[in-house]
Amino acid sequence: MQSLQGKTALITGAGKGLGKSMALALAAEGVHLGLIARTEADLVLVKEAALKINPGIKVALHTADVSEYEQVQTAIKSITDELQAVNILINNAGILKVGSFKDTPIKEWEQVIKTNVFGAYYTIMETLPHLLAQNSGDVINIGSTAGLKGNANLSAYGASKAAVNNLSEALMQELRKSNIRVSTVNPSTIATEMTMNANFTDGNEEKVLQPEDLAQLVVDHLKLPQRALVKDFSLWSTNP
Ligand SMILES: NC(=O)c1ccc[n+]([C@@H]2O[C@H](COP(=O)([O-])OP(=O)(O)OC[C@H]3O[C@@H](n4cnc5c(N)ncnc54)[C@H](OP(=O)(O)O)[C@@H]3O)[C@@H](O)[C@H]2O)c1
Repeated sequence: MQSLQGKTALITGAGKGLGKSMALALAAEGVHLGLIARTEADLVLVKEAALKINPGIKVALHTADVSEYEQVQTAIKSITDELQAVNILINNAGILKVGSFKDTPIKEWEQVIKTNVFGAYYTIMETLPHLLAQNSGDVINIGSTAGLKGNANLSAYGASKAAVNNLSEALMQELRKSNIRVSTVNPSTIATEMTMNANFTDGNEEKVLQPEDLAQLVVDHLKLPQRALVKDFSLWSTNP
C-alpha cells in the first residue's frame, strides 16, 4: 500500500455529508485539502475539524457552484495557487431531486444534470492539466447505484449518475496510460442530509451505511499501489 502523506486532494461538495467525511479521513492520512461547496460556513467548519485531526496539513477553501464554469475555474485556480499541487480530485458535489418524470419542472431536471454531470466535467477540465503535468494522480467520481439501473421518480438523478459512470470510464480509458487512475464509486443509501431529506433512510439513520464507511473505502482505494486501478465499485448495506 502507498502512503497518502503529503498528497493534496481537491474535494467538491466538501461542506457536509460524504464530502466532509472523505475530507476528514484524508486529513487523518496527512493529505492537504482543497475544499469546494457553495456554503462558506460549512467549509470553515470542515477546515477547523480537519486541522484538529491533523494540524500538520494545509487546508484551502473556496466557494463555488460547480454548475457554473467560471466559478469552478476561479475556485480551482485559487486553491491550486495556494496549495501548489493537486494529486487527487474527488468529484462529489451533487444534488438529488425526487419526483415523477411528468411532474418534474424542466428547470429542476436541467439543474440536476448541470450540477451532477457538468459540475464533474468542469472540475475535471480545470484539474486535469495539473495531473497531466505531473504524469500521475487520482480522479474519483461519485456516482450512485441509482445510475446503474432506472428507478421510478429518479429520472434526472439516475440519468445524471449514469452519465457520470460513462464519463468516468471514458476518462479512465484515456488517462490510465498517463498513470492517472480514474474510478467511479457508486454508493447505495448512506445517512446524510441528502437522503434524510428525501426520506430514503426511513428513520433508520443508524442502521444504514454511514459517511465514514464510504470515506474508509475511498482511502483504502487511494492507498492501492499505483499500478492497480479499480475501475468502479459499489457500496451496499447489509441492512437493505
Ligand atoms: N448519501 C447517499 O446515500 C448517496 C448515495 C449515492 C450517491 N451519493 C452522491 O454523493 C454525493 C454527496 O452526497 P451527500 O449525501 O453527501 O449529499 P449532501 O449531504 O447533500 O452534501 C452535498 C454537498 O455538495 C455540495 N453541493 C451541492 N450542490 C453543489 C453545487 N452546485 N456546487 C457546489 N457544491 C454543491 C453541498 O454544499 P452546498 O449546498 O453548500 O453547495 C454539500 O456540501 C452526491 O454526488 C450524491 O449524489 C450520495
